[in-house]
Amino acid sequence: MASFFRRSVSSQLVRICGGSEEMFIPLLSAVPVSKKQWTPEFRLSVSALVCSGIISREEDVLTQTQRLTKQLKVDGVIEDVSAGRGVITFRVNKLLLAQKVLSELREDPQVNSDLLRTLPRGRTLVEYSSPNIAKKFHAGHLRSTIIGNFIANLKQALGNDVIRVNYLGDWGMQFGLLGAGFQRLGSQEKLKENALQHLFEVYVQVNKEAEFDESVLLDAAEFYRRLEQHEEQALLLWKQFREITVQEYKRIYQRLGVHFDHYSGESFHQSKAQEVLSDLRTQGLLKTTEKGTGVVDLSDQGDMSSYSTVVRSDGTSLYITRDVAAALERKQTFGFDEMIYVTDKSQSVHFQQLFQILRVMGHDWANRCVHVPFGLVKGMSTRRGDVVFLEDVMDEAQNRMMHNMSQSKTSKVVSDPELTADQIGISAIIIQDFKGPLMADYVFDWERVLQAQGDTGVFLQYTHARLRSLLRTHGNQTLSHFNASHLQDHRSISILQHLLRYDEVLLQSVLELQPRNLVNFLLTLCHLVSAAHRDLPVKGSAADVAQARLHLFTVTCSVLASGMKILGVTPVEKM
Ligand code: ARG
Repeated sequence: MASFFRRSVSSQLVRICGGSEEMFIPLLSAVPVSKKQWTPEFRLSVSALVCSGIISREEDVLTQTQRLTKQLKVDGVIEDVSAGRGVITFRVNKLLLAQKVLSELREDPQVNSDLLRTLPRGRTLVEYSSPNIAKKFHAGHLRSTIIGNFIANLKQALGNDVIRVNYLGDWGMQFGLLGAGFQRLGSQEKLKENALQHLFEVYVQVNKEAEFDESVLLDAAEFYRRLEQHEEQALLLWKQFREITVQEYKRIYQRLGVHFDHYSGESFHQSKAQEVLSDLRTQGLLKTTEKGTGVVDLSDQGDMSSYSTVVRSDGTSLYITRDVAAALERKQTFGFDEMIYVTDKSQSVHFQQLFQILRVMGHDWANRCVHVPFGLVKGMSTRRGDVVFLEDVMDEAQNRMMHNMSQSKTSKVVSDPELTADQIGISAIIIQDFKGPLMADYVFDWERVLQAQGDTGVFLQYTHARLRSLLRTHGNQTLSHFNASHLQDHRSISILQHLLRYDEVLLQSVLELQPRNLVNFLLTLCHLVSAAHRDLPVKGSAADVAQARLHLFTVTCSVLASGMKILGVTPVEKM
């Protein structure tokens, strides 16, 4: 992709300023396509040169920029160099653009990039989804699932070794209620039929009963006590709930195209939490308050202006204590270089405190732990009511998509309409969610989400399917050579110049851990492709023109598919 051009400019810069190419490569960015502008250009940010000390602050920056611009040579790669306000712009040779972009992106869109090679690589642990067994699966869990999956895919695409962890809410008082409730209202039969549904019904019912019948609460407390003391019968029932639920989740995750390398949960860290407490005690970090709770002082001055409670007065651990235990164990087991947690923003303080506790315990690697927070989704309800199960959301999307497809002419050719509708429905939900900044709250709207026109997941899928259909009809020829002089019109150049930015967009996405840049990049690509379908026909064009255009469409299609897969969207062949 852009490597060739970046190297060429960088080698000139090395000649003039010294240093190494690696220093300059990240400072060169490809100019985004715009309506007015379709000359392929790169920009070198002068402020970045100042920041990295290449241009000194002492001498006037403009004078230095102009001097540098004069020293840069125009050649077969760079056609023109000009100095502007704060930037130096390089216009690149359009023939070379077509040759280089297409040949380099052809193979593997991610790997062939100098820019991405400058990123550090290592082992990344991503924790996401993490629903609570028996409790409601809310829209936040769906967001965590798809955002975490995107981050894991992206890290993996950029050459990291990724470990995907699901940290289930599988311990706590809700199991007291559920256990007590199941003993009165549960049925093994129904549990086998639809575990999530049944457990949820029992949980709702027992909560209702507890409101007016105090004995239910006493039963629940008793059941939870038995669990905490690892009493066999209670533990057996808990295990059964957990296992059945995990099996159900796995099936649903598979439908969503999401998987995990490890299922862990709060229950695993129940006993380990006690070890954390004794470590804290030994290190002199655990303070007992008047109320009898145990806290860790997190203030800079040691005046308790900020602290975190890690143990109740009755000696039991809290959510955060289990998280400290889980983090320590993960570090030991997986030796990760960085760890990323994905949850809604209401847990931001929790994670900042978690990292802080780890730091005061002397674990510097806590600096490589990150929380990725996201905002709330409002109005995500299905025909069965507010979101309870992930599956209901997926069913709703699928049904609505099936309905839309039945109205369209082209979808008659789809061999498995249900699967296709499912995949498109899921894409629509994902893209809608990823369009804005993750921290923003948004209102979910089924009608808008499933539109075929406009910036939706359906539009991405439609563009991909249309490209695949074109390539099936005309492709399958050896596309090893093509004549780049047939790709010099402004439609082709716009696409090429856009593709040139793919590595930058991936870089930006991984630095920000946000999907919106990639989503918008792909949507723009799709708009450019629809215009190109109209203006760059393959059918009826002279053989060598058709060949060049097919080459362009092949590469475009593979970048589109690659980007969609990173987002967690499975590209469909037909729709
Ligand atoms: N189960 C929690 C919830 O639904 C999310 C868990 C987040 N991860 C963690 N390590 N605390 O709110």
